[in-house]
Amino acid sequence: MPEYMHKVYDWAYLDPRNATILDRELIVSMILWGNNRRLKKSLLSEIVPNATVLQAAHVYGSLIYEIAAKLSHPRQLEVVDVSALQIGRCRDKLRAFPQVVMRIGDIALLRSTPRDVISCFFLLHEVPWDYKRALVNRLLEQVAPGGKAVFVDYHKPHRLHPLRGIMNLIWRKFEPFAIDLLESEIDRFADNHDSFTWTKETFFGGLYQKVVATRR
Ligand SMILES: C[S@@+](CC[C@H](N)C(=O)[O-])C[C@H]1O[C@@H](n2cnc3c(N)ncnc32)[C@H](O)[C@@H]1O
Repeated sequence: MPEYMHKVYDWAYLDPRNATILDRELIVSMILWGNNRRLKKSLLSEIVPNATVLQAAHVYGSLIYEIAAKLSHPRQLEVVDVSALQIGRCRDKLRAFPQVVMRIGDIALLRSTPRDVISCFFLLHEVPWDYKRALVNRLLEQVAPGGKAVFVDYHKPHRLHPLRGIMNLIWRKFEPFAIDLLESEIDRFADNHDSFTWTKETFFGGLYQKVVATRR
């Protein structure tokens, strides 16, 4: 288990009681200021029904379920999460979906088979700088030729954004590794940058971003 999980995110992802409270669509929607549906929709638009998909970590709410529901073949979706508790929650959500396999593992050490789509939803802002680089590079390695990695996460909001002040307080208190994501571009973490075509879209006054890296 990486150190930051115990030091910073113990309460959110390793405590079973808190996980039960937080793992609800309404809570995720509140945390994302009502943008959850829009961001999920944008991510889901990158996934076609016959794609093989790697989901980097469990996500609270219904996203994992919605990805699984788009796919039809056995073992089409793999979810990897470093926390046994989170894999357990994911398993409970997806009992009805034989197209999903789940395993406990650190994405920074991932060795997997190439996938058409790699989905990374609000994970990068929760990990330290070195880990951001490791995660981006490990995930890009798993992208099949013509496939893509999709990163949805926080982004530096417009300087006049009305929520900028409160978000800065929240990040400093609860999400300390978010700050350096705001000051960098996700594509800059990629060692193999030019093997991919990069696109970036921002949402909600720049507070969120979707970056898509398509393997050339
Ligand atoms: C996807 S991120 C954040 C998503 C979002 N905040 C939500 O609503 O759930 C949270 C997940 O990442 C997992 N995680 C954190 N670091 C990881 C790593 N290095 N490898 C795999 N999973 C990791 C945590 O266990 C947790 O389940």
